[in-house]
Amino acid sequence: MALTGKVAVVTGGSRGIGLAIARALGARGVQVAITATSDATLRAAAAELGGGAAILPIRADVRRHAEMEEAIGQVAGRFGGLDILVNNAGIGLFRPVADMSVDDWHRIIDTNLSGVFYCSRAALPHLRARGGGWIINISSLASKNPFPEAAAYCASKAALNAFSEALMQEVRHDGIRVAYVMPGSVATEFAARRPGSDDWRLSPDDVAQVVVDLIAHPPRSLPSAVEIRPSKPPKKG
Ligand SMILES: NC(=O)c1ccc[n+]([C@@H]2O[C@H](COP(=O)([O-])OP(=O)(O)OC[C@H]3O[C@@H](n4cnc5c(N)ncnc54)[C@H](OP(=O)(O)O)[C@@H]3O)[C@@H](O)[C@H]2O)c1
Repeated sequence: MALTGKVAVVTGGSRGIGLAIARALGARGVQVAITATSDATLRAAAAELGGGAAILPIRADVRRHAEMEEAIGQVAGRFGGLDILVNNAGIGLFRPVADMSVDDWHRIIDTNLSGVFYCSRAALPHLRARGGGWIINISSLASKNPFPEAAAYCASKAALNAFSEALMQEVRHDGIRVAYVMPGSVATEFAARRPGSDDWRLSPDDVAQVVVDLIAHPPRSLPSAVEIRPSKPPKKG
């Protein structure tokens, strides 16, 4: 897919990986809407992205399906359609199951999993109207490598992988290409900084590069899942 003139929505595009994806798409001539729940962060991100008519910040919570339907409709109305949905918004609350409240559980599942369903369902008619497009879901290597104090997060991302694979098979004959990206540790505000140098962690730009490469991938084949990990993490032991 040639990128110039395409229209994308990046959920959670106000900082971290989502902002890097929005920046990478914008640099390639894509008209980009970014969504998040904090107005102030959205405004700062839109300014950082250069503002202007090709950037549309929208306050919308992925946990609320009506808000996301309205947001995606607004994007299609403003830019004349939709070609790319990047389901990036996600949260992690890391604590043992015994200490996890029911509200914490729902917050993670509603954001990381139900939010992807709401946004994908809202985007599909618009992608079909264009004759195809991309849905790219930002999962995590934690989906394949569960670890203690992350049960809800790991479960949400494992379920996201399954959702992505099923959706991919449902819509690929309509020209809609679905993929999920599983990054290892990325240097964002998402997780508390660990002691010592973080130089080994992925940059948000590394994940953005994968997203851009997926969209530019020739249509004959479909890279439907990508793992990306730091080249040189600290050695164990
Ligand atoms: N950082 C890592 O090590 C890592 C590794 C693997 C995968 N990931 C995944 O990558 C994605 C992005 O992570 P990140 O590290 O960039 O996180 P981040 O820096 O915390 O950014 C998260 C973004 O999502 C938005 N967001 C959070 N809850 C939302 C909601 N309910 N509705 C709409 N937007 C919401 C945030 O804005 P507001 O707070 O203003 O809503 C923000 O823009 C997540 O899905 C995460 O699971 C991260």
